[in-house]
Amino acid sequence: NLIKFLIYFLNILICNMKNIYLTRHGESEYNLLNKIGGNSNLSEKGKLYSKKLGNYINNLQLNTPVYTSTLIRTINTGKYIKLDKIELPILNEINAGICEHLTYSQIQDKYPEEYSKRKIDKLNYRYFQGESYKDLIHRLKPIIDIIENNDIILIIAHQAILRVIYGILTHKKESEYPNLDIQLHTLINLEINNEKIIENRIKLI
Ligand code: F6P
Repeated sequence: NLIKFLIYFLNILICNMKNIYLTRHGESEYNLLNKIGGNSNLSEKGKLYSKKLGNYINNLQLNTPVYTSTLIRTINTGKYIKLDKIELPILNEINAGICEHLTYSQIQDKYPEEYSKRKIDKLNYRYFQGESYKDLIHRLKPIIDIIENNDIILIIAHQAILRVIYGILTHKKESEYPNLDIQLHTLINLEINNEKIIENRIKLI
């Protein structure tokens, strides 16, 4: 075990290895209702995830702060993790403007043109009074810089936000970002060793 530990740190020092942990918040009350945006709390299942995540991360004994958004669902997802927390508004979920608090079918009924415009070009579509995925790429630049400057990092954020961060880190095409699969209750671990990326998805519930 000591040898494994030493190899791990030598890798970090010599090979510039990065160890990145990304997770969405646990299931929220809005997720249950299929509503987007807002600032709802975790559902019972989401609270269970926060406990499982706390256990898992505490066992890893990481030496990093935890970055969350400023929304209740990410803060509470990190609640059981015994590390310093940093809340960043730039990690808040995509702003859906006039569509916040609606379900996708309500959006389709109320704003059919907006709905179909987003379907046609999800990357560039900007919600009225809100944001597009393209806007997120710009908004998240400082987080990519933080990742560049840290060997180990843990981020608890949201679906659209993590699609962009994950897409950038794994060199996906921008057009793919809006449809990347970032599931609930799954911790994504990326070990980046120069150009080589080892990905592990750890389902905790
Ligand atoms: O449904 C959860 C959620 O995080 C919403 O708050 C957000 O608008 C959405 O996912 C982003 O996913 P998509 O870009 O596929 O609508």
